[in-house]
Amino acid sequence: MVGVSSRHEIGDVPLTAVTRRDAWVFRGPRLGYRPGVDRQTAPDDFAHLRIDGTRLVRRLDALGEVGAIEGPGGERGCARLALTDEDRDGRDLVVTWMRDLGLIVEIDQIGNVFATRPGTDPTLASVMTGSHIDTVRTGGRFDGNLGVLAGLEVIETLISHGIDTARGLTVAFFTDEEGARFAPDMLGSLVYVGGMPIEAALAVAAVDDHARLGDELLRIGYAGTRPAPAVSFPSCFVELHIEQGPILEDLGVTIGVVEGVQGISWTELAIGGQSAHAGTTPMRLRRDPLLAASQITAGVRAIATEIGGDQVATVGRMDIHPNLVNVVPASVTMTVDLRNTHEQVLLDAERRFAAIVEEVAADEGVTIERRTLARFEPVEFDAAMVDLVEATARRLGHTTYRMPSGAGHDAQMLARVCPTAMVFTPSVNGLSHNIAEFTEHSDLEAGANVLLHVLLDRANSTD
Ligand code: GLV
Ligand code: MN
Ligand code: MN
Repeated sequence: MVGVSSRHEIGDVPLTAVTRRDAWVFRGPRLGYRPGVDRQTAPDDFAHLRIDGTRLVRRLDALGEVGAIEGPGGERGCARLALTDEDRDGRDLVVTWMRDLGLIVEIDQIGNVFATRPGTDPTLASVMTGSHIDTVRTGGRFDGNLGVLAGLEVIETLISHGIDTARGLTVAFFTDEEGARFAPDMLGSLVYVGGMPIEAALAVAAVDDHARLGDELLRIGYAGTRPAPAVSFPSCFVELHIEQGPILEDLGVTIGVVEGVQGISWTELAIGGQSAHAGTTPMRLRRDPLLAASQITAGVRAIATEIGGDQVATVGRMDIHPNLVNVVPASVTMTVDLRNTHEQVLLDAERRFAAIVEEVAADEGVTIERRTLARFEPVEFDAAMVDLVEATARRLGHTTYRMPSGAGHDAQMLARVCPTAMVFTPSVNGLSHNIAEFTEHSDLEAGANVLLHVLLDRANSTD
């Protein structure tokens, strides 16, 4: 379990390790990296090389204890909302592991963390892998964490086998992927690729306590100095992630070969009505923002039903003021999340949503202000990278299935700047953003081994 972390500085000054129970400290021989010294050069065929699944699961368990939450059935989930104390403690633990492996750790201005094992040819751009370690408030232990810790596990496997690569290998975790505390989601990777100005990102206010993102980064000690957006980008990016849905499990397939990510549209509605006495105000005089919010909620579900296919539509947050039994509410703030793999269909869903909002506002006599929290078009991954993931998984003896991602991922941002792909592993009962989120250890291991071999291929290639 992670205890209180002591104050620390970032950049070139070593972090003071988080106080941890000894069981979670990966002591063993220190695996400092000395490129080209006492190392074997890469042989042609690493066909039998495998990651250490037990070590991967131990790290996942250890990180899962940071901000751990427990469900009624004893399920162990995680609450590490971006830039909270829990997120800081999780970051400190992962950075300690990165430094224990002798990696070069850098932090950028938006708090993204990059740990690099240099390659033998410094003229070649590094290969990057990674994901995020922030979670939703009722999150699991695998979403994001798997991609980061599998990246570390790949690097530790190469180090412990004395295998050098031509290109460097970087494992990253990006700030605020979830967007549950600061919108939009994938904020850190969006800034990294130049999709949002750093000043605008630092000024975003938290939905819970309205803290400014830039102040929270400083408070937890992760306002780094490496420029964001980055001045140069990796040669490619590969992200391992749990599927977070039911498809692979239903098909009995081990590896999802992700061809792209569906488009995402997030809107916040601020609905204003007339607060009034519940006993004395006749129904004909009411302007009730909660009734409007309820009608919009039902309308949003109808949009998904009418469009059909894979269209999804969700009302996930609603704040009612003053939220009292005998008061007609004064105001409601709510969010709407629409997603589709086809941009034209997503635009159609957005048009239908806008029409519902206008109609409800007129019918109930309320005011409705709209604010776009996130809008990302669907993304297609690089065809050659997707083929490589598929071929690698098959070569390792796994069943595969090509699919889009329903969830947002940092990879969809990285796809703007370099060839990108993703590897999915099954989620038990299709559950995610839920403390019962689980992936079988054998599947975690399979995914990490596919990641290992895809990264090895790319890191030893000069094309
Ligand atoms: C992030 O996990 C999202 O897809 O909302
Ligand atoms: Mn995720
Ligand atoms: Mn998530």
